[in-house]
Amino acid sequence: MKKLIFLIVSLLFICCKEQAKTNPFLSQETAALYEEPFRPQFHFSPQAHWMNDPNGLVYHAGVYHLFYQYYPDATVWGPMHWGHAVSKDLVHWEHKPIALFPDEKGFIFSGSAIVDKNNTSGFGKDGKVPLVAIYTYFRMDIEKTGGTNTQTQGIAYSLDNGDTWIKYANNPVIDNTTLKDFRDPKVFWHEETEKWIMALVAGDHTQFYASKNLKEWKLLSTFGKTQGAHGGVWECPDLFKLKVEGTDEEKWVLIISIGTGGPNGGSGTQYFVGDFDGTTFTSDQTTYKWLDWGTDNYAGVTYNNTPDDKRIFIGWMSNWQYAVTTPTTTWRSAMTVPRELSLHKNGDTYALRNYPVPQLDALIQRNTVTSMTLEPNSEKNLFFEEGLQQSEIVFTTTNKDFKMELSNEKGERVGITFDGTSNLVILDRTNSGLKDFQPNFANTLQYMALDDFGQEQQEIRMLLDSSSLELFVNGGQNVMTVQLFPTESYTTVTLQNNTGTHLEIGGFQKSTMASIWKN
Ligand code: FRU
Repeated sequence: MKKLIFLIVSLLFICCKEQAKTNPFLSQETAALYEEPFRPQFHFSPQAHWMNDPNGLVYHAGVYHLFYQYYPDATVWGPMHWGHAVSKDLVHWEHKPIALFPDEKGFIFSGSAIVDKNNTSGFGKDGKVPLVAIYTYFRMDIEKTGGTNTQTQGIAYSLDNGDTWIKYANNPVIDNTTLKDFRDPKVFWHEETEKWIMALVAGDHTQFYASKNLKEWKLLSTFGKTQGAHGGVWECPDLFKLKVEGTDEEKWVLIISIGTGGPNGGSGTQYFVGDFDGTTFTSDQTTYKWLDWGTDNYAGVTYNNTPDDKRIFIGWMSNWQYAVTTPTTTWRSAMTVPRELSLHKNGDTYALRNYPVPQLDALIQRNTVTSMTLEPNSEKNLFFEEGLQQSEIVFTTTNKDFKMELSNEKGERVGITFDGTSNLVILDRTNSGLKDFQPNFANTLQYMALDDFGQEQQEIRMLLDSSSLELFVNGGQNVMTVQLFPTESYTTVTLQNNTGTHLEIGGFQKSTMASIWKN
């Protein structure tokens, strides 16, 4: 008997050691995986180490792929790989091995992926449909010696639905000898001209290319040198068609991220509504439009090939101003929840909305709904013993002059003030918890200009995870995404009426969001 027990224990020991050798994540930190302080419970974050932009968002054979900028050796940015995760419902994610590794042509920067159904690339074999990834190669060594020819475009393909990848032997498919910033190809199939179209950024503008086979590309046109926000280098473009809600009108939307000069400092994502004729994108938009007004939604792009033609967006929930210093331990950064984009028209103005995909509702453990009336210039505290760190809060108000504050017993708080006179929402995270890891993380208020379509009533939805808040106003008409690092959970919601009349709060509901990692 003793011998048997010894044998079993020895076998277990050997097995665990083997696993620890092959799986870099099974270290002494394993016990804490997805339980660390600030670890998001219903947002995607890598098991360990550094992550930035979402890449290669594509749906194929029942699976949503999420590739991402990944550095597997540290919790700060480094030689970029494409990390990989898959999901059947856009809510629960399964981690996959790293998809693309750096090689002699460079690090693997951001890009996209497509399903080459007609095998235009010739990469398909034995009837297997290739997934093709189109990405930027970056040569750090050349940059260090002052060279500008650091960024070129490469492709790779997979015949097993993204599990393994083969790089094209004749990379790069678009060379570059002059431009310092020349990256982040987003490719899609353009039905009307039966060509692949690529949107690529080149410093202060977007370039559009076309190809029949994904290997040979022809420059078509450029856009943006004199339009839009230029507070930083243009990054991560995305171009797609959307129907204007409630009409048959179709417009094209171009999304562009800028690393600095966002609406509240640092990184931000702007969009243009216009037309694309297969060659040229034009927009008569004269104002800047921001997809998200908060500081922490960057480099977001949308899925190719979604089953129901939905336009689904995921952004990186951070900001280059402080991304590498946020106070997390074994991993760094998370993605926004997947959001559906829709286009709306008011008068002559087009507006892009973004709102959580309905699949996320499966996580919401609904609570009872309450309504309340706030006397003129009064406030109400609602205490939630279980905490707000993993919740959804929804309600409506009868006017635009109120404040809500989330706070904990340590006095850490985040305030969101609606000001009907200026039509602004002011978010205050200056005392929200840990903030000294970087001076510009929480030194100013954040502002969001509300689209004013004459409506007084406001519809609020907030998603709160361990270290983030996503605020959706009026069905995603205006949105703010911010990171927060409270040292203990917020437990109180304070609602404050800032007018001399009654404020009706309707349909107030605080629900718990189930963890996507523990079910
Ligand atoms: C955006 C970005 C991209 C680039 C990648 C590098 O955050 O700067 O332009 O491809 O990150 O990791």
